[in-house]
Amino acid sequence: MIFELTEEQKAVRDAAREFAQTELLPAVIDRDEEQRFPAEQIKKMGDLGFMGMMVDPKYNGGGMDTISYVLAMEEISKIDASASVAMSVNNSLVCWGLEKYGTEDQKQKYLTRLATGEILGAFCLSEPEAGSDATSQRTTAEDKGDYYLLNGTKNWITNGNSASVYLVIAQTNPELGHKGINCLIVERGLDGFTIGKKENKMGIRGSDTHSLMFSDVKVPKENRIGEDGFGFKFAMSTLNGGRIGIASQALGIASGALELSLQYAKERKSFGKPIAQHQAIQFKLADMATKIDAARMLCLNAAWLKDQGGDFAKASAMAKLYAAETAMEVTTEAVQIHGGYGYVKEYHVERLMRDAKITQIYEGTSEIQKIVISRELLK
Ligand code: CAA
Repeated sequence: MIFELTEEQKAVRDAAREFAQTELLPAVIDRDEEQRFPAEQIKKMGDLGFMGMMVDPKYNGGGMDTISYVLAMEEISKIDASASVAMSVNNSLVCWGLEKYGTEDQKQKYLTRLATGEILGAFCLSEPEAGSDATSQRTTAEDKGDYYLLNGTKNWITNGNSASVYLVIAQTNPELGHKGINCLIVERGLDGFTIGKKENKMGIRGSDTHSLMFSDVKVPKENRIGEDGFGFKFAMSTLNGGRIGIASQALGIASGALELSLQYAKERKSFGKPIAQHQAIQFKLADMATKIDAARMLCLNAAWLKDQGGDFAKASAMAKLYAAETAMEVTTEAVQIHGGYGYVKEYHVERLMRDAKITQIYEGTSEIQKIVISRELLK
């Protein structure tokens, strides 16, 4: 792995930082309070190339590497993790999955618009009774010849009410277990497809999280991704990359909290000197920075492996596990450093602490990451 970033990678990072500071920061507290999706900002992120960063330019993507994606995700997540989860799902789960496994027609029809941010995508795996245990899909996609009949409910779907294209995982042949599962591209507006309730969440409150209901929805056969029965493998393979996105989100939440803590510690005085001069605070800052650097190395390592075409399932699970734990620890310490100010909204760190928690839960809990890592170790 080469540790020096290229000029192009640095430019992507700086552009993301500039965008986050000027476009996302000003109303981030209000959006969190009002649970308002940053639709306008996401559109601008599309114009800047952040919604289909790794997609081939022939499908209107940015043609960038995964390292650039990690750098951009970190900068956006420092300021607004609600915007960055929409970005992560669109880039790593939807665009990547379609580009790697979709047909040329599917790419032309959907990917070319998803990659520019003209439309948003959603990835629909979780169900009321299938979260970590993803093979237990209750949603059914009955094979009716030239179409599938889709029935069931999906839960906690990111971009739930903002997406136009939904990748829906569903069971076609229960007797075959995970080999009977398919992934279908479902367009918004099909008869029988309804958007359910919006979740009132602890964190990432600007993110648009909904349940979805499918009642006798007819999905054309040509909208299946891959061979019959490939849906579970599709989901697992796509999530390997998705975990790099969420790891980078967690990294950004943590490094955002550190930046705020450093600034505050130099300004706030107690016992006659800035609190940064107290060893109790210095030790906290040192621990936070060390963990963040380690998390960043894991994220970049997973991204580098993916760009090399290697097997990155273990590396992405390690990055997600460690970065999420770091985000939770670092944001908790950031609130502690800020004292009473840390507990109120104006200082941002309480939001970062609430946002950090989800990174230990979605795209596989920390416990799921340990399962993925240990299975790879024991292979
Ligand atoms: N990469 C590639 N293939 C994988 C894989 C991986 N990481 N994990 C499993 N597979 C393959 C296996 O090789 C196996 O294939 P074969 O039958 O050909 O050998 C097949 O998938 C089934 O594997 P398992 O028998 O190991 O499956 P399992 O039932 O034991 O479950 C699991 C494995 C790792 C626990 C999996 O269910 C899992 O990852 N669960 C978590 C699901 C998850 O992350 N959900 C997140 C929802 S999406 C989201 O959060 C998006 C958002 O909104 C932000």
